[in-house]
Amino acid sequence: MDFPPFEHLLYYERVHGARLNISYSNIREFRLDGFRRGLPKNLDLNWTFRNGTPGLRELIAKRHRTSSRHVLVTTGATEANFLVNASLVRPKDRVLVDIPIYSPLRDVPRGVGANVVEIPRACKDGWRLDLDRWRKLAGRRARLLVFANLNNPTSTALTRSDLRELADIAEECDGHVLVDETFRELAFEDAPPSATEFGHRMIALSTVTKVCGLGTLRVGWIVGAPDLLDRFAGLKDYTTGGGSVLSQTIATWALSRWDFFLRRARRILDVNRKIAADALREMPALEEGVPSRGSVLFPHCSVHVAKLADRLLRQYKTVIAEGRFFGVPDHFRLGLGGETRDLRKGLANLRRLLRSIS
Ligand SMILES: Cc1ncc(COP(=O)(O)O)c(C=O)c1O
Repeated sequence: MDFPPFEHLLYYERVHGARLNISYSNIREFRLDGFRRGLPKNLDLNWTFRNGTPGLRELIAKRHRTSSRHVLVTTGATEANFLVNASLVRPKDRVLVDIPIYSPLRDVPRGVGANVVEIPRACKDGWRLDLDRWRKLAGRRARLLVFANLNNPTSTALTRSDLRELADIAEECDGHVLVDETFRELAFEDAPPSATEFGHRMIALSTVTKVCGLGTLRVGWIVGAPDLLDRFAGLKDYTTGGGSVLSQTIATWALSRWDFFLRRARRILDVNRKIAADALREMPALEEGVPSRGSVLFPHCSVHVAKLADRLLRQYKTVIAEGRFFGVPDHFRLGLGGETRDLRKGLANLRRLLRSIS
């Protein structure tokens, strides 16, 4: 195994002290007291269920319109992505990856030795998905086809018909489709269906991190065919074993109030989306408006993005996420889930800097 460094994460580690980070993809943090309840005093801290606690698996299954037999709880979506790749992908296998994308979805298959074929979408075509190209490149031997739905960083969605066709392609190449659905429900009433509604070759993963702002619980999941989950669970026995019962208890509270979390996310995003749209209109160096769904946007920038990000950090203590982290260097990512006053200030800093250099 030879994993490329996780550049985006390392960058965030380096800039952690900066005043304003307007690039995060999560909805702002939720705190323990927001649940207004206490942990059960008799909670067994010695033993837990291998595949996740039954109540939590039931609630996750509902979000994907399936049964809990199809759910494996993991240590975040991060472990979920690792388990799928390390279980299904062998060295030199062909893995097709949608670009731009959140880098671990591209780099974990690389880490386990796959021949990763990046299939870029173009901003000038409205990030259109070319399924003919996917079919051609999958041929008869692609092992895994990888997407995020909604996409991180563009917030584009795979539609029901895209998913149906991807399931056909997987059948033809005798492979699987992995869809990271971390942001799927942030399209609210327009949320695309879960990939797992389209048959046994489709695998979905997700997490409480982004929708709820509960990243440190480290609770995620995989939804897929039970025989596949057995293989993933067999590998998980060597990574984390059973997950944290403390975290899974709190994640169960979150999933049982999921509509509350969606309403909260929507309130925050509606306000910030409007602020971002107004601000972007005053920055002619940036192309592409603010998408109507999701928590992130990915404008094209006519100014050199690495230099812009560096000056924004040094002069204004403001952080954006360079497009190179997602495979498209002349763009950058902004996040809409944070504090409104921070977004406003960060965008004003960005506008000031762009005015002075473009
Ligand atoms: C698409 C996507 N999947 C997964 C994750 C990480 O999820 P978790 O915190 O559950 O490991 C992120 C975090 O940025 C993400 O953007």
